[in-house]
Amino acid sequence: MINLFTYSMMLLDVIYFILRNSLRIVMRPRTKPIDGELVLITGAGGGLGRLFAQEFTKHGAEVVLWDINSSSNEQTAKLVREMGGKAHTYTVDVTKKEDVYQNADLVRKDLGRDVTMLVNNAGVVAGERMLDCPDELVERTMKVNCHALFWTVKAFLPQMKAQNHGHIVTIASVLGLFSTACVEDYCASKFAAVGFHESLAHELLADEFDGVKMTLVCPYIVDTGMFEGCKIRYEVELILPPLEPQYCVEQAMNAILIDQPLVCIPRLTYLPFLLLPWESNVVTYRFMGSDKCMVPFIDTMKKQAANAAIAVA
Ligand SMILES: NC(=O)c1ccc[n+]([C@@H]2O[C@H](COP(=O)([O-])OP(=O)(O)OC[C@H]3O[C@@H](n4cnc5c(N)ncnc54)[C@H](O)[C@@H]3O)[C@@H](O)[C@H]2O)c1
Ligand SMILES: *[C@@H]1O[C@H](CO)[C@@H](O)[C@H](O)[C@H]1NC(C)=O
Repeated sequence: MINLFTYSMMLLDVIYFILRNSLRIVMRPRTKPIDGELVLITGAGGGLGRLFAQEFTKHGAEVVLWDINSSSNEQTAKLVREMGGKAHTYTVDVTKKEDVYQNADLVRKDLGRDVTMLVNNAGVVAGERMLDCPDELVERTMKVNCHALFWTVKAFLPQMKAQNHGHIVTIASVLGLFSTACVEDYCASKFAAVGFHESLAHELLADEFDGVKMTLVCPYIVDTGMFEGCKIRYEVELILPPLEPQYCVEQAMNAILIDQPLVCIPRLTYLPFLLLPWESNVVTYRFMGSDKCMVPFIDTMKKQAANAAIAVA
């Protein structure tokens, strides 16, 4: 039988968290210090990864930088060191689980300490219409954006659990919470990333590892070049412009430092949580021009591929 007392406590807790989270919009809670933390960032050579490395450095953390592209990764390390921070680079393909496990051991051996914060940031998109998209590109998106999360978490979560201390950050996307046309590979992988992240968050709490925090970051289009060309209706873009990478990373950092479980950037993108009927979404998308927003992006990708082919020839 459900005890009336525990039932009322549950209801009170539900109301408490609704009120607390509403209040947090105006009153930011105290941030946690992260100066003794060892932070591993995947995709650290990319637009957001590099800025995350710099932000964590600003807060006094030591960073371990993983990327498949060693030259852009080294560039990030150089910037971190110029700020007076400590950076350690590793060339890792996060889709190769053996590569992930070996490099995780190497990090532990090289630095003599455990990674305490993991930022799963590496991500790719095919940039092709579904039926034009080569199978290899579909698989690559799933492997980088989804499968890799399993390998990195398997590599670093055990030590976090042993200390009941740590933080796992998943850089997903608003396209992991709602979708649009012509990015099937990306939406599938990011919905998967969100599902993985949330299930793991529930698991840690169910097992009472409340010292291992989890933050899911869902940004709208960021101006890093990843979705170059993507365009919604001009008038709507005035209130929903592509995010400045620096702004996006600062907002994500704010959330991470207060152990916030989910952050959508900008706030306007929380709106789709008002569960409208599917057909209502479709008309809203048409109005906003977001039903066709990926078409110019796909064209840009085609042009880039054509230019690259000419450069090679
Ligand atoms: N740019 C956007 O509009 C946007 C919007 C929402 C979410 N995101 C997400 O933010 C994250 C960072 O995106 P970004 O804009 O900085 O992209 P980016 O392309 O600038 O950086 C991605 C980095 O990941 C690395 N990478 C790719 N495959 C890898 C692999 N197999 N192993 C290791 N590293 C690999 C790349 O070399 C690159 O340095 C991604 O997960 C992306 O999906 C981006
Ligand atoms: C690696 O990054 C550099 C920029 O630092 C870029 O010029 C190069 O094209 C990237 N290589 C690949 C394979 O993406």
